[in-house]
Parts: sequence; structure tokens; C-alpha cells
Amino acid sequence: MTRHRLAEGVTRFGAQDFDRRLFDELIPLPDGTSYNAYLVEGSEKTALIDTVDPRKASAFETWLTTIERLDYLVTQHVEQDHSGSIPIVLERFPRARILTTPKAKPMIVDHLHVAENRIRTVEDSETVDLGGRTLEFLHAPWVHWPETMLTYLREDRILFTCDFLGAHLATTELYSSGREPVYEAAKRYYAEIMMPFRTPIKKHLKRLADYDIAIIAPSHGPAHEDPSFILDAYDHWVNDAPENLVILPYVSMHGSTGLLAEHLIDALGQRGVRVEPFNLTVTDLGKLAITLVDAATVVFATPTILTGPHPSALSAAYLIAALRPKLRHAGVVTSYGWAGKATESLTDLLGSLKVDWLDPVKVQGQPHQADYEALDRLAEEIAARHRTLGREA
Ligand code: FEO
Repeated sequence: MTRHRLAEGVTRFGAQDFDRRLFDELIPLPDGTSYNAYLVEGSEKTALIDTVDPRKASAFETWLTTIERLDYLVTQHVEQDHSGSIPIVLERFPRARILTTPKAKPMIVDHLHVAENRIRTVEDSETVDLGGRTLEFLHAPWVHWPETMLTYLREDRILFTCDFLGAHLATTELYSSGREPVYEAAKRYYAEIMMPFRTPIKKHLKRLADYDIAIIAPSHGPAHEDPSFILDAYDHWVNDAPENLVILPYVSMHGSTGLLAEHLIDALGQRGVRVEPFNLTVTDLGKLAITLVDAATVVFATPTILTGPHPSALSAAYLIAALRPKLRHAGVVTSYGWAGKATESLTDLLGSLKVDWLDPVKVQGQPHQADYEALDRLAEEIAARHRTLGREA
């Protein structure tokens, strides 16, 4: 447990989870994670912003014993890593009430069995005076659930953002200080959690430009005493055109698809196109997601099993479709023994993405010279399309 003071009367309880390696039983956490809760003390009232994952309830409960009174528990997001310890808080402070969005209220009741009379909903831009300290609530749906909100502490110019602008990173440091590992962790977090919501995020970022923010305090990872560090990064990730980059998820059973992937990587490199290949049997899905933030093109290289793609390729395609990256082009390179529909299955799975499909390269057995020439043509086509990036209508 780390306890830090952000300002006079503003304390962070950071429950560091150095050992956690998986979130949602899906997302790799190479650097662990943290669950931050913030105590804001006014001259008349006190508010706690968010709680911690029940995995850290014991340390949290100990910290709560140091708090004399609590009037409000601000719940910015109902996912259990922030809301899971709400019952502990409500039991310890029987007069405290939850402040949250109207959309969050029934979710808190459903997920945590909290009595409705313990919850007061707040409207967008509503304020609560703690006595010399004012909390302003900014509804910010879809970062990354429908009920999410941010909280702005006016007098200290601190913006509490819960998941938004956060990073899965366990660290005893209070501030990011513009450090590269924090940037990498924040980008990984954006890629895995926030990327599907680029449109609402653009809107929220635009709104925040009107706020004078000294500190950004998320509920995962360190705070940002230089808000531009994380705001500029987000602006780049959500707004910029994709880069001259191909992401190449591949899997090979007997070597043929591996030969195709290797040739394509070389052919693209020779044409000035950067490639990031991911061997799907060992890949870190977080790194794959990070690459998706910038990539303009995805090319799957997969063998055919029975009648379709290798299950690893299907799984990666499902994830890529769910993350809704700003890809422009997609292609499939596949080898097969006698027949199959690997290409069709992947095209269907990625149907929700607005991508132009490149002509597939399908090879029966070991590739021949004509197959390598088809890969060269594919690389040429990708290079030509990438030269127009940023100039699309
Ligand atoms: Fe950190 Fe959406 O929970």
C-alpha cells in the first residue's frame, strides 16, 4: 500500500498489485497494476473517490480506519476493480452516500447489492460543496462502460479520471514524470481498453480542453503532474492517421505459412514499409494491441485447419475486430493442403471494420516461385497504398 498527498486535504491510497499478471482473464499485465482511491477533505465534508479491487480489500480496510468521517463515496465507474470494495466503505460509514451517474445506480445495485437509498445520482456538471472544496461531476460515457464519469476538484485543479487516461502499472511513484515506461503502459492500456471508444473519447478530450487542469489522477497507474504528457498522447492515438506500418499476425504448422510470412516481411521491408510480425503461438496480445494503435494494414498469415483458419488466427481476428483500430487495409496469406475457406472466415470475422481488402495469396502446399511473386505484388500494393496515407479523401 502507498499513501500519497496530492495537495492539502487530497490523499491517494494506491493499492499496488505487483503480482497480478492477467486482467479479465484475458489482458496481460507485464507490469502488474494498481487501484487508486482518493480522499478529498473539505472543511465540512469528506468524499472518497472510488475504492479498490477486492483483492486488496484488507489493506484498504486498514487505511479506512485512519479516516474519521466520510460523507460521500464518489463512484466514477462500476467495474469491480474500483467498485468492489464499496460494501466495506458503506458498512464502516453508515451515513455515507454514494454519488454516481443515473446509469451507474442500477448497476451498483445489481453488481454489489447496495440498497438504493444509499445512492444519490448526480447530473452532468453538477457540483457538490465539501466546504472550501468543490467537486464537479463530468459525465463521460463509454470510457469504457456506459456509466462512467470524471470528477474535477475545482480549487486544486485536479481531475480524477478512473480508467480514462490510466495505465496498468504497479509503482510506488506518485507521478509519471513523463517516463517512457509509463507512456508504454498507458498506450497498452489505451489499446486494450479504450481504443474501441475513440469517438466518445475525442468528444471528452475536446471538453477537457476548457478545464484548467494541474494534475490528472487516474485510478490505475501514476498521476500526471504534467497533464499534457497523457492528453497529447491520447490526442495522437485517437486522432492521427495510421502510420506506414503493417501488423502481421501469423501462425505456421508445417512451415509453409512461415515461408510466406518471411517472404512478405522482406518484400515489405524492401519497399520501405515497416512490419511488426506476431507469432500467435507465443505473442503478448498487449503488444499486438499496441501495434494496432498505429498500423494502417493488417495481413494475416495462417494455414488451413480442416476448412478454416488456424484457431489462433481466428482468435486474433476476433480481438482485432473488437478493438476497432484505425486500420485502412487488410489481407490474408494462407497455405492449405487440399481445400479450405481460411480467407472467407477471416473476412467475415472482420466484417465490422471499415477496411479495404487486398487480394489474398492462397498457396497449396509449399510455395512456388509464382507464389513468391504474388507476395511481391501484395507488398507492392501495400506500399503504394501507404504512400497515400494522410492524403485520403
Ligand atoms: Fe479499471 Fe473498467 O475498470
